[in-house]
Amino acid sequence: MIPPEELQCLKAIAMLGGCRGPVRVSSQSLGATLGTSPQTASRRLQSLERQRLVNRTITPEGQDIVVTPLGEGELRKEYQEYSRIFSDHNKGYVLTGVVVSGIGEGKYYMSLAPYREQFNRYLGFEPYPGTLNIRLSPSSIPVRKKIEALDWIRVKGFSTDGRTFGDARCIPCRIGDISCSIVVPGRTHYPEDIIEVIAPIALRRKLGVEDSDTVTVEVGP
Ligand code: CDP
Repeated sequence: MIPPEELQCLKAIAMLGGCRGPVRVSSQSLGATLGTSPQTASRRLQSLERQRLVNRTITPEGQDIVVTPLGEGELRKEYQEYSRIFSDHNKGYVLTGVVVSGIGEGKYYMSLAPYREQFNRYLGFEPYPGTLNIRLSPSSIPVRKKIEALDWIRVKGFSTDGRTFGDARCIPCRIGDISCSIVVPGRTHYPEDIIEVIAPIALRRKLGVEDSDTVTVEVGP
C-alpha cells in the first residue's frame, strides 16, 4: 500500500491533469500545494517514480510528470472507497435516544382532524393520538442534522374557531418493524436533541418502553 502522503501527492498531480498528459511542476509549487517543503515534495515524487506510479522527465525548466496506468489504478481504488462511503448514506440513518415525557401537547395536536387527515394521506396510517418524544444521544445529533437535509413532507397549518395552527413537516421512519414518522412543528426554536415520533399504534405499550428507556429510529430506505 502506498503511504497516505504519497497518495496525496499522486492525487495533486492528477488534479493538475497528470492522468491526461504530462504536467510541469516545480518542487516549490508542489510543496506549496501539499503544505510541505520543496525537498519533501521532491522526495515524494521520487518515491512515486520508484513505485512506477508516475513517470518523470527532468528538463531545464522543471519536471514533466505523468501519472502511469498503475498510478491511476491506485487513485481509482481510493475513489471507489469514497464512492462506497457516500453510497452507504443511501442506506439510511440511525438515531438513538431515550424516551422522555412532554407536556401532553402531542395528544392535543394529533387529535386535530386537519392534521390527522394529512398524516393519513401522506404517511398511509391514522396516527395514534400523541407523539413519542425521544431525547437524542449526543452522537445522534450530527445524524439528525443530515436528516434535516433530506426531503421532508410538508403538513399545512389551518385556522379553526379563530385559532391558527402552524405548518409542520414529517419524514417517514421505522422503529424496529413499525412504520412511524418524525414530526417537526413549524415553529422556529425547537431543541436540536429532541425528536417526536408518530405511529399507527401506542409505541410505549407496543415496545414496552417508558421514560429513559433507549429506542432506535431509522430514517431512509
Ligand atoms: O405527554 P407527552 O407530550 O409526552 O405525550 P403526548 O404526545 O401527549 O402523547 C401521550 C402519550 O402517548 C405519551 O406518553 C407518549 O409518549 C405516548 N405515545 C405512544 O406511546 N405512542 C405514540 N405513537 C405516540 C405517543
